[in-house]
Formats: sequence, structure tokens, C-alpha cells
Amino acid sequence: MSEIDYSQKIPNNVNLNGDRTLQRALERWQPNFLGWWGEMGPADSARNDVYLRTAISVDPQGWANFGYVKMPDYRWGIFMNPAQEGRTAQFGESKGQPAWQEVPGEHRANLRRIIVTQGDTEPASVEQQRHLGLTAPSLYDLRNLFQVNVEEGRHLWAMAYLLHRYFGRDGREEAEALLQRHSGDVDNPRILGAFNEQTPDWLAFFMFTYFTDRDGKFQLSALAESAFDPLSRTTKFMLTEEAHHMFVGESGVQRIVQRTCDVMRELKTDDPAQVRAAGAIDLPTLQRYLNFHYSVTIDLFGADQSSNAATFYSAGLKGRYEEDKRDDDHVLMDRSYKVLEVVDGALVEKEVPMLNALNEVLRDDFIADSVKGVSRWNRIIEKAGFDFRLVVPHKAFNRQIGALAGVHLSPDGRPLTDAEWAQGAGRWLPTAEDRAFVASLMGRVVEPGKFAGWIAPPRIGIDRKPVDFEYVRFN
Ligand SMILES: [Fe+2]
Ligand SMILES: [Fe+2]
Repeated sequence: MSEIDYSQKIPNNVNLNGDRTLQRALERWQPNFLGWWGEMGPADSARNDVYLRTAISVDPQGWANFGYVKMPDYRWGIFMNPAQEGRTAQFGESKGQPAWQEVPGEHRANLRRIIVTQGDTEPASVEQQRHLGLTAPSLYDLRNLFQVNVEEGRHLWAMAYLLHRYFGRDGREEAEALLQRHSGDVDNPRILGAFNEQTPDWLAFFMFTYFTDRDGKFQLSALAESAFDPLSRTTKFMLTEEAHHMFVGESGVQRIVQRTCDVMRELKTDDPAQVRAAGAIDLPTLQRYLNFHYSVTIDLFGADQSSNAATFYSAGLKGRYEEDKRDDDHVLMDRSYKVLEVVDGALVEKEVPMLNALNEVLRDDFIADSVKGVSRWNRIIEKAGFDFRLVVPHKAFNRQIGALAGVHLSPDGRPLTDAEWAQGAGRWLPTAEDRAFVASLMGRVVEPGKFAGWIAPPRIGIDRKPVDFEYVRFN
């Protein structure tokens, strides 16, 4: 069942042919999706031939098939990992019982909410990134952007399928609403704050794909544990696509750091003004972008204490990251976990029931994962002989959600007065001037093998093609 049937209007490996009503409903949603893509998807891209990978099976080997595609003709489809025979719930109250193939009535509202919230982020990021193609630093990068965009579109298909297949009329309405809300729309915004922020330039794009797509990885991993088997199988396949998005982010920032260090060595200085004058992005500006994207992203994990998180876990809807690698009872009734709060102007740790702190558990797993790439970026700076080090800010820095919202802390976690915050914010978060400078560097580079002056070329191309391969053809 892992082969994908491309002879159908909607490519799929879920036997869509076997359910005419469902098939027709999704075939009615399809033109609406394409309308959304045309209106809100990558600007001015409809006639480009893009060297993209498309899933042709969900097998670990060889699911990625590369070829030139016009993006509106991309075969967005519905793919699930194969069912595991005899799969049982791994955690919560139904631990050990058979995984569910249909939605249990008592969990219907919560499951729908989880799927809608995940589904909403997918088109949101496409909308946020829609203008970036016009300022791509190379054809290689333009291809990567478009790859991420079509796959986020496919993730939307994945969630829309679950809504249509398992949630009846409400589900169809929710799938429609996923196309109606828009990132940053005053009247009808996307559900989560970070997905209403702009992604105005390529530095923001790389930080977003490094940090915010990694939030995606952790949310999807938690959903891959779900006792609702179709959600588990769907998110498992989405994770294989997500890995490329994070690669784009990590390698993108790494190449910017590389270029900046090359310029600093040439000039024999790390003075930001001179680095900027030479057309590269100074390291303090990189740090401010990092602080922003990191803090906005860790807010996505939600309030540090949440009764919803406890309910989702106990009910078997959403697990922890790598549930099977944890040697506790997977019920967590008498476990505790440390969260932070501010008491009399000082950050203090507080033990709370772990079930209520599962957002914080997932956030901490994300943090441990995201610092690894930052240390790889630092090795480049170290190798170039400079003392500067990029660092993720304290997890209480610049938070808008949970007990730490509205509390002013420095990036190293010192509580601040409002006046101190007002004074420091411009050193810690991107200023209008930083953004204007980065924007001033953005100009489209379309000659194969050429790269904008603020980013180093990658060491190797995509799909073993050379770096100067014509990844996008303009017609
Ligand atoms: Fe996604
Ligand atoms: Fe992604």
C-alpha cells in the first residue's frame, strides 16, 4: 500500500478510489486549494520550471523523485506511512489498547482542534514566504524555497484529508476555513502568533526554517505517537519532508556565517559597520535575528502549564517526543517537572505535575535539539579566528505566552525593569534599521552558479547535481 497512485486526480496511497463520496468532496476542495495557491502562494512563479522532488512512494528509500515541474502542476497528494500491524496506544489512559482507526466520539472535538491547529500552520508559512522568490540569492536557494513551499502545501493536503475523511461535515468546513484564514490578515488571521509574523527577507527565511520548521518537527513527532492511527501515519510521513526544511535553514545560516567570516578575514576586522559596508551581514545582526525567531518559536509550544496538554496526553491524542525512548510509565500521574516563573522580580523554578507541564517538556526537547546547529555555526566563526559566538537566548527572553509573558528579561535571563528593557531591546532584537539593512542586500540572482554577496555557495548541490545546475528555468 506504500506505492502512490498517480493515475488519479489526487495522487494518494490511501485508496481514495474506494470511497467515492470522500473522493468527490476532496476533488471539490482541490480547485479551491489551487485557487489559494495561485493567489497566496509564491509570487510570480507560475511559469517557472523548478527542479523539485515529488513523493512517488513512502518507502524510506527512494520516495524522492526529482524532475522539472511547473509549480501549479505539482502533484499534491495524500500520503501515509504504512500501517503497523497490531499497533497499540503507547501512553495515557488507553495505553496498551489497540490504536484507533476511527475517531472515538469523546475525543472528536479535541482531535479536530489539534489537526486544525497543525493544518493552519502549513499554508500560513507559504503565505509568509510568498515574496521571497523575487529576491532569491541564487537559483539553488530559489529551488529550495519552492521545495519547502510545495511541501507545506502538501502538508495542508495531509491535514485536509484527515478532516474530510474522519470529521464529516465539520471537517469539510474546517478544511475550507484553512484556505480562508490568511497570515497577518487583520480580520481572519492564522491561529498561532508566529504564523502571522512576516518573513520579509532571506535571513528571516533561514532562521524560520531552522527554528520554526523545527517546531513543526517536534509537534509532528508528538502527533506521530497518537493513538489515532491515521494521524500517526500521516505525521510520520510529513516528518521525512520536514527534515529538508530544517536542512535549508541550518545550511542557509551556516553559509551566511561563512560569508561574513570570509569578509571579516579579508578586512581584518569584525567591526559591524565595515562588515556591512562590504555587503555582508554582521554577526550581531545575525544574533538579533536569532533571538527573535527563537523566542517567537518557543512560544509556539504554548503555556508552560496547560490542562489541555494534560488532557491531550491522558486521552492518548498527543504524546511526547520519542515516547518509546522514555523509561517511565507513560501515564505520568505522579511525576513532576520544573517550570519557571517570576517571583518578586526573580526567576524561580517551580515543581508542577508533569502532565500539566507537557508543553514545557516538548519545548525543552526542542531547545536541546536547536542548540546543536548553533554550535555548528559557531565552529565556523571559531575556525575563522574570531571570538564572537552565537547563542540562543534564555528561554524566558521575549516571551508572549505562558507565565513568562510580559516579563522583561535580558537574553542571559536577568530580570529587567521596563526602563532597562526599553534601553536594551535594540541590542537584542532586530531593529527597523537592521531590517532595512538586510532588505537592502536582497536582490535577485538568477545566473546558474552565481550567489549574492552576503551568502557563501553551498558545498554540494541538490540531488547530486552541481552547484551551478539550472535549478529553476524561467519561461
Ligand atoms: Fe509543514
Ligand atoms: Fe516545514
